[in-house]
Amino acid sequence: MSSQQNLALVSGASRSNNAGIFAVASIAHEVNQPLAAIVANSQACRRWLSADPPNLDRGRTTLERIIRDAHAAAELVSRIDGLFSRGGIRARTSVDINQVIDAVWQSMADEIATKNIRVAFELDPDLPPARADRIQIQQVLTNLIRNALDALDTVADDARSVQIRSLCDAAGTIRVEVRDNGIGLTEFEQIFEPFFTTKTHGMGMGLAICRSIIESHDGRLWASPNKPGGTTFVFTLPVHASDAEALRASHEVK
Ligand SMILES: Nc1ncnc2c1ncn2[C@@H]1O[C@H](COP(=O)(O)OP(=O)(O)OP(=O)(O)O)[C@@H](O)[C@H]1O
Ligand SMILES: [Mg+2]
Repeated sequence: MSSQQNLALVSGASRSNNAGIFAVASIAHEVNQPLAAIVANSQACRRWLSADPPNLDRGRTTLERIIRDAHAAAELVSRIDGLFSRGGIRARTSVDINQVIDAVWQSMADEIATKNIRVAFELDPDLPPARADRIQIQQVLTNLIRNALDALDTVADDARSVQIRSLCDAAGTIRVEVRDNGIGLTEFEQIFEPFFTTKTHGMGMGLAICRSIIESHDGRLWASPNKPGGTTFVFTLPVHASDAEALRASHEVK
């Protein structure tokens, strides 16, 4: 059974409603993050404005972040509108995965800096575009990086690291890896089941959503252990059709 069917089954949805139910569940999951950031930044803003004298520069900066996150939340919610009319399937376009990685990382940069996490990138500069739904791939990367940050909570704060890698293999498949040196895993399949969580405030939906998105793009998502510790999550995506042609031709020339 696919992870999307699995998800629909636990929510009691009929097969025809699978995609829509899945999409709404994933939006509910994703919208939590900008909302939590809005609450935290609003409290910070109140502190800067109540200081004596008020720190207007800091207040303005936190306000900008609140506006940014409110737009992100509104963007997520507005996606509900179009979901049912098109059966939950959104348009696939040509997507630069390195750009998506950059945007996701930028949106989490404050938290990464506060937690003293070293992030290393190894992005293939010649990565061909993927045929994908940009927003969904953004969701996948956000969830994987979020999990990596959580996994580092128990690691000494001068040794926390995350590595993000993109590459394209000879068969014309894009591959993205998110590697952490965190707490690690003991099993590698149950984590993809809906509602499986070991976190006090986790929904256990992040990886189920990620796998469903990647499989709906004809890709794969899996986890494997690192030596000496930590976990690497890997997903694959097909190259956009017209670029796959060009890629094959360039491999033939070589
Ligand atoms: N990078 C990681 N390192 C170690 N364990 C992980 C990692 N990523 C996921 N896990 C484990 O897999 C479980 C399921 O992850 P998943 O993202 O689906 O849910 P969650 O993070 O618990 O909650 P949420 O729905 O908020 O994402 C986690 O609770 C954690 O035990
Ligand atoms: Mg998660």
